[in-house]
Amino acid sequence: MKQRLIVATRNAHKVGEIRAILSAFEVLDLSVLNDPPEVEETGKTFLENATLKALAISELTDALVLSDDSGLEVDSLGGDPGVYSSRYAGEDGNDSLNNEKLLREMDGHSERTARFRCVIVLARGGNVLADFSGAVEGRILQKKQGRRGFGYDPLFAPEGDKRSFAELGEEIKNGMSHRSRALEGVADWLCQPGEID
Ligand code: IMP
Repeated sequence: MKQRLIVATRNAHKVGEIRAILSAFEVLDLSVLNDPPEVEETGKTFLENATLKALAISELTDALVLSDDSGLEVDSLGGDPGVYSSRYAGEDGNDSLNNEKLLREMDGHSERTARFRCVIVLARGGNVLADFSGAVEGRILQKKQGRRGFGYDPLFAPEGDKRSFAELGEEIKNGMSHRSRALEGVADWLCQPGEID
């Protein structure tokens, strides 16, 4: 039987990517829980926010819980939007407003290097078991390219490629993304004998 993991997020795109990458596990979303709370992301780092989400959800179930906190860091913007990536333009999860704001902020900047970062926390029964991180370097394009993916994917081209993550599509993105790099650590950790029952 596959090991069950509950992903502590309402972002269906994240769940889809995690499910595709952790194919050896049964990856469930929050709909398996009865009325899970909205967890406020009050942390100042990806690790703090990932920990808040994993702990809050793991109090509600005996299952293993995985949380993902992630975002985009743009060098010429001093690392913004960073932990505020999902609410950069003010409204949580509004990808198109966030992308418009990013393009406005980048106006006139010739230095366009950036990276996506992802921190994943595993928790069970109100205890953190382990954390993992991953990053992918790239740059911010001059305009949106492609329709796949989510978030800032249409504006982010990984190093060495002219195409955005939204053009490259899920399979190629999942072979190199911040999330897949963090999840490699998760898969290795879960496969070590004795880490979990
Ligand atoms: P979180 O739910 O607080 O972790 O917010 C993550 C936000 O970072 C998302 O709403 C996106 O704006 C951005 N983000 C994180 N990972 C990705 C990705 O793989 N592609 C595009 N945007 C991402």
